[in-house]
Amino acid sequence: MLQEATFKQDLLEWFDANQREMPWRETSNPYYIWLSEVMLQQTQVNTVRDYYRRFIERFPTIEDLSEAREDEVLKLWEGLGYYSRARNFHQAVKEVHHTYQGTVPRNPEDFKALKGVGPYTQAAVMSIAFDYPLPTVDGNVFRVWSRLNNDTRDTKLQSTRKAFEQELQPYVESEAGQFNQAMMELGALVCTPKSPLCLFCPVQEHCSAFHAGTVLDLPVKTKKVKKKTKKLDVFIIVNEQGEILVEQRQERLLNGMWEFPMYETQQSHELQTWLGEGYAWDAQHLMQLKHQFTHLTWDMSVYVLQQPVNQNQLELPDNMTWMSVDSKETFNFPVSMTKIFKKYLSQYDNR
Ligand code: ADE
Repeated sequence: MLQEATFKQDLLEWFDANQREMPWRETSNPYYIWLSEVMLQQTQVNTVRDYYRRFIERFPTIEDLSEAREDEVLKLWEGLGYYSRARNFHQAVKEVHHTYQGTVPRNPEDFKALKGVGPYTQAAVMSIAFDYPLPTVDGNVFRVWSRLNNDTRDTKLQSTRKAFEQELQPYVESEAGQFNQAMMELGALVCTPKSPLCLFCPVQEHCSAFHAGTVLDLPVKTKKVKKKTKKLDVFIIVNEQGEILVEQRQERLLNGMWEFPMYETQQSHELQTWLGEGYAWDAQHLMQLKHQFTHLTWDMSVYVLQQPVNQNQLELPDNMTWMSVDSKETFNFPVSMTKIFKKYLSQYDNR
């Protein structure tokens, strides 16, 4: 734990003197504070200001909003994006109107049970409106706290969020709302992602990453790489001896392994061209198969060509050969091809 008293005091003094003016900081109305926190998720403070003003002008009370039609609520939200936030908020406010006589529940469990309220919104509203001791852990706080502690744990992991919440708990036992907002404000104004203003930081002396020179390496976030999907057509092609055409891969992925000829779906007409005009094309669908690699998914449609190929009329490149069913153990097949082969044998091998 950081030297609790001086760290917190330094932070709160800075916040007192430097916080930005925000309309929702002028109120203690929990409905307004809640609305602001919902709008601030995924959206910048400056964008939110006008939306917030218009919204409370049109729906000044929980009762007004709970009686509104959804399309009018969505209209006021238009341009803010993430419209499920607005729908959930509207729904939750109706629940408050009906179940809690229009008063935002002060009990954190009751509040959390409302539609759309996750751990962040719960902590933000409970602490800012009621000074309830719960720490807010949003993107700003992840950054600030991992830097203060020179903590390299992956902030995308749920276990890191839990650990941060526990570590922050002692600091919110009093003045929770101020402390939470000060941490977020520090993250927004000073401890920014790319060019933090460490020389002006009110808590620089408490910052382990500053002393270690690792500020820009934090927070650690493992990127979720978006998996690409390739649509592929796979062909089982037999010759008049009942041998099957196989091809050795010459690509980085699975290099050197064998496969049945495979084409990206848009290219599979190339196979017809290669087999020639004289060949009676009759492809029967055998199976669909998905295979996951770390960054890639193969979505395979597998076909069996019903007409045997006359091997003398087909010139094979060096990395292709005819394989007899009995010699398949001498070829190195990746998992997906083994699955395909099994399925093929179960349907076509009648020896
Ligand atoms: N980001 C979201 N809510 C905030 C708040 N109340 N203060 C500062 N930054 C915030």
